[in-house]
Parts: sequence; structure tokens; C-alpha cells
Amino acid sequence: MATPIFVKPLSDKFLSRILAIFCEKGGIGKTTTALNTTWFAADVHKMKVLAVELDAQGNTTNTLTSEVPRNALTGSMLFKEELPANKKPIEISPNIHLIAADKQLKKVDSYVQAEDKAAARELYHIVRNNLRKLAVNYDLIVIDTPPTAELRYTAALVAADSFVTPTTMDAFGMDGIASVAEIERDVKSIYGNPRLKNIGILPNKVQKRSALNNNMLDQLKQANMKTTPMVIYLRSDIENKLYEGKRSPHMREACEHILAEVMK
Ligand SMILES: Nc1ncnc2c1ncn2[C@@H]1O[C@H](COP(=O)(O)OP(=O)(O)O)[C@@H](O)[C@H]1O
Ligand SMILES: [Mg+2]
Repeated sequence: MATPIFVKPLSDKFLSRILAIFCEKGGIGKTTTALNTTWFAADVHKMKVLAVELDAQGNTTNTLTSEVPRNALTGSMLFKEELPANKKPIEISPNIHLIAADKQLKKVDSYVQAEDKAAARELYHIVRNNLRKLAVNYDLIVIDTPPTAELRYTAALVAADSFVTPTTMDAFGMDGIASVAEIERDVKSIYGNPRLKNIGILPNKVQKRSALNNNMLDQLKQANMKTTPMVIYLRSDIENKLYEGKRSPHMREACEHILAEVMK
């Protein structure tokens, strides 16, 4: 295996970091990025990682485990002021723990009206405080978010130190990033997370010879949108490995970059 680019800092409780994977579009690689980043961090860098899934679809959860035990701390519980004392993250491996998706996640969306910004802010800070309490046990928390549930993905961004936005270089993917700047601004100003770091747009499923992909990549540059220095190419190995629950070497460069940015 190639030498890792990123060298983990000494394990220190205060160095724990929270990363949100965010894009207002499905099928563009959020879960792929969340899982591969988790695997590179835990298995290559020996970091202690807590994977958190806020997408009720449960793709991250189902990839990591076939069973959610009764005593599992699950996603919707993060939205309650007090974390239940008798529940804990699922231990997938010594270095990977999981807060699994659950059915109640969808109910969270009706807790407050997103237009009621004061109430939403309060809810976001409950999630932030809960995750920050959990963070003392981990080097890194990776949050996989849903593409549409505004309350849940904004909660992830308010809790996070950094976020990355995978997307595809086509018209649908570009729709998913149209409002990133606006959401980032609201999270920083209205919702009280001014230090949130934008790692950038991460172009995914790129085909070198696709005129459309290249055209969209040019448009990103011209629009001065922050993008990662690398893209992820369309590779069946990424999909196959994900299905087997393994990281793909084709995700390495992007995941190492994300980890280096998060831990900076
Ligand atoms: N670079 C890639 N090459 C090939 N397949 C990919 C790539 N990125 C993602 N996929 C596949 O595309 C599908 C959607 O990706 P996923 O990460 O689940 O998206 P999201 O979480 O944004 O809905 C999955 O089947 C995944 O394996
Ligand atoms: Mg997903």
C-alpha cells in the first residue's frame, strides 16, 4: 500500500474534529465519501472514528452493520436535550463506532419550522452539544447527511468544524450546489458556527473524456467556487468495494485531502 500523505497528530482529546458531508442532492457520493473517509481514518491512520448517519435511508448504517441493537444510540436521539444514559454508539470495530440512522429521524423534521430561525437554532445547538460531548471519545466524527431534510443537514453543519460537498459534474449535480454559499452563510451568521470551514466542492464520478464534465469543471473555476484540488473519477471499483464494506484506493487521494483539511 502507498505511504499515507496525511500523518495523524498525536492522539489528543482536544484534537477531535467533526466533519459533515453535505450536498442537496442524492446519488452524488455523500455516503461513498463518508464511508471511505471513515475507513481511511480508522484503518490507515488508526484514528478513533464515530460515523453518524442523519439520512433515514440508512445507506451508511446498512453498509457498516446488519443489525442495530436495542441499546444503540441512534441519529434521532441527538436531537433530544439529554442523551439517554443507557444507549451508546454501536461498536463496528475497535476504531469505528456508529450512530445509526433510525426511523424517527424523519420525525425530527417536524420538531420546528425551519422558518422559525430562533427555534431551529436552539435545536441545532442541542445536536451540536450532544456531538461535542461524544467527541471527547473520538479523534474524528464523520456525519453523513440527507439531501433534502433541511433541518437535519443544517444541524450537521452547525455541529461541524468542516464540511465537504461531493457532487457530480452534470446539471443535476450542479443544482445540488447552487445554494451552498447561502447555507454556509446562514450557518456561520444566524446559527452561530462562524468557524465552519468549507473544504470545497469535491467533483465525483468524473469521466476524463466527458465534454459535459469538463465544461462543468470549468464553470466551477470561473464561478470562483472553492473546489478540492483533486476530483474522483467514475470507477466501478469504488461501487464494488463500498458494497463489500471496503475502502477503494481510487478514493484515497480525496479522503487524505479531506482528513488533512479537517485535522489542520
Ligand atoms: N466515483 C464513483 N464511481 C463509481 N460509482 C460511484 C462513485 N461515487 C459514488 N458511486 C456510486 O453511486 C451511488 C450513489 O452514491 P452515494 O455515495 O450513495 O450517494 P449519496 O449518498 O449522495 O446519495 C452508489 O451506488 C455509489 O457506489
Ligand atoms: Mg447517501
